[in-house]
Amino acid sequence: MNAVIVHAPCKINLTLDVFGARLDGYHDLESIVVPFTPADEISVKSKPAHTPYHHVTLDCDDSSLPTDEGNLAFRAAIVFLNRFMPNQPQDVTIRLSKKLPCQSDLGGGSSDAAAVLKALHRIFCVDPKELLELGSTIGSDVSLFLIGGPVLMSGRGEKVARLITSLSHIFGVIVKPDIEVPTAKAYALVDALKNRVPGKSTERLCELLRTELSMEKLGVAFNNDFEDAIFQAYPEVAEAYRCVASAGAIRALLCGSGSAVFGLARDYDHATQLVNLLRARFPYVTMATSFKEEL
Ligand code: C5P
Repeated sequence: MNAVIVHAPCKINLTLDVFGARLDGYHDLESIVVPFTPADEISVKSKPAHTPYHHVTLDCDDSSLPTDEGNLAFRAAIVFLNRFMPNQPQDVTIRLSKKLPCQSDLGGGSSDAAAVLKALHRIFCVDPKELLELGSTIGSDVSLFLIGGPVLMSGRGEKVARLITSLSHIFGVIVKPDIEVPTAKAYALVDALKNRVPGKSTERLCELLRTELSMEKLGVAFNNDFEDAIFQAYPEVAEAYRCVASAGAIRALLCGSGSAVFGLARDYDHATQLVNLLRARFPYVTMATSFKEEL
């Protein structure tokens, strides 16, 4: 029996430029994304099955989550086995310990799926390029978690390139207000904004990251095109943003399409201070640190 333990980090989009809707209903994006802790913990075990079919079992410590095809981690195992082990039936057991809140756009579901693919890759050693292609069919954010490190993301999210930067650690706080923002609705709200001009922040931050390492200066270049639309429609998220800013974060930033909000800190001590100041105010508050793990 082979067993592998992997961490499934969350993601923060330091920039998120949203372009118009495409014919397939998706939107083209440009974004600089960084994986962060906290991370879900996943253990994957595999042994040859005594049946002609693959068998996958998912145990999750959060009983509100599905443990079948409705869970991206389960689906990732099935698509991996069908693609790479078509004639060698496997019995796979996944244990998922959730640390990331759902419906926050911190990417937990996609990250769990990517972690399962990474674990199975470590067990069966498949072609990394094919693994990346397979990941993009599971969900828009799976590819970026497979690549890891700071990523330049484009297309609907499936085009990813590792960003070379000397930026080592980023510290901050993540809060999640007690409200959920459905992703498709978030895109519809952005489309409904009159005279909206998509940002060019990704290009700008890429340029800046070549030379600038001061968090104060980098923070000014952060941007999320969802912010205006989401703050208008969800006052609770706007309030979370104001709280993070007034607690003293260098920069508050909506996480993807929400509802979580990130606060950039100068360093570890500043991040601890932000966590302490915000702890009593929101149902979910955590320290966040940039995370590095290779495929
Ligand atoms: O890829 P995912 O399943 O997370 O997307 C959920 C919904 O968000 C899609 O059905 C689509 O309506 C919207 N979306 C989009 N453009 C993207 C990603 C997601 O319009 N690039």
